[in-house]
Amino acid sequence: MDQPIVAQYKPYRIDVEEGETYLWCSCGLSKSQPFCDKSHVGTDFKPLRFQVTESRTLLFCGCKHTRGQPLCDGSHNDLTEEYAGDDRSLEELLSLTEEVAFDPSGRAMLDGDCYVQKPASLNWVPEGGLQVAPLITGDDNAKNLGQYYARLSGGNSEPRRYPGSEVVLFGMSGRGEVRISGRPFGIEAQSGVHIRADESFEVSCDSGEELSFLVTVCPGHSEAEILAAPLENFAEDYPERAFSCDDSKRNSMADRFYQVLIGEDTGSAEVSQFIGEVPKSKAAPHRHLYEEAIVILSACGTMWTETRRAPVETGDIIFLPAEQEHSLECTEDSGMVLAGHFYPSGEPNINY
Ligand code: FES
Repeated sequence: MDQPIVAQYKPYRIDVEEGETYLWCSCGLSKSQPFCDKSHVGTDFKPLRFQVTESRTLLFCGCKHTRGQPLCDGSHNDLTEEYAGDDRSLEELLSLTEEVAFDPSGRAMLDGDCYVQKPASLNWVPEGGLQVAPLITGDDNAKNLGQYYARLSGGNSEPRRYPGSEVVLFGMSGRGEVRISGRPFGIEAQSGVHIRADESFEVSCDSGEELSFLVTVCPGHSEAEILAAPLENFAEDYPERAFSCDDSKRNSMADRFYQVLIGEDTGSAEVSQFIGEVPKSKAAPHRHLYEEAIVILSACGTMWTETRRAPVETGDIIFLPAEQEHSLECTEDSGMVLAGHFYPSGEPNINY
């Protein structure tokens, strides 16, 4: 036996206790997954001893091919050609779920505080030279993620900051400039800009076309503070702040693709931003440990939770609470493009 046995093609969710030691099964033969039951005896495999310093929930690798033993790093997605699909029939799914209507504010509530928000129904208010509309706030039972839509039709916004929070911008349309504590960076559709905690930023746009962008704030419930002047506290240790799509940085996930624009590799400890491509398909229901906001950049489909479903289309925003079971279906042959922001920072290919 020179390769481990795949116990399952997804991780095991385990609540671990501070001070405890766990023996993770590396051979895949244990009947007490994900932990060792000594079934490796007689093979060259040995269990991995894992000491826990903080009580929390972890995802232990079930496929035994992770490069981050003993935890899942998404490698299970590379062991199959197709992303795990939902094997239930459409008839069964329709009988299990009710289609939810959109309310006058453009929102369809799914299970567990998950919702789909239509941008056309948002309530825009002026704030520091921008038009701003809340998408995800503490009132929506978001714990750590805040998200706003912002737009600017020309000129400059006033400088602002979100005290104590990381801020990530994602261009939705148009082109402009973001000055982070006085340092200029470009922003355009499908690009990201990272503003570190307590830096200020202001936005300008003189292309003649409206600039619109998402503002994701993590931890998310600090209010924008409009400043009389930009701050002079640009974090020099992180000079690169603007990130665009780059095919050479795409990762595959079975028949799906994603690129992390902003995340741990770019120095973001709190929030990750990614762009993903999903073929026409319905993923098997799954959950993430992180709290997430998704924006559909192209194509139609359906967002499913345990007992509810709502149609989604280009421009819609989805709020997905941590650990909420869900499945986002793409119903178009062209496939779906989406962007996601999630807290805490990590890889979007890890779910259970
Ligand atoms: S289950 Fe092994 S890497 Fe995810």
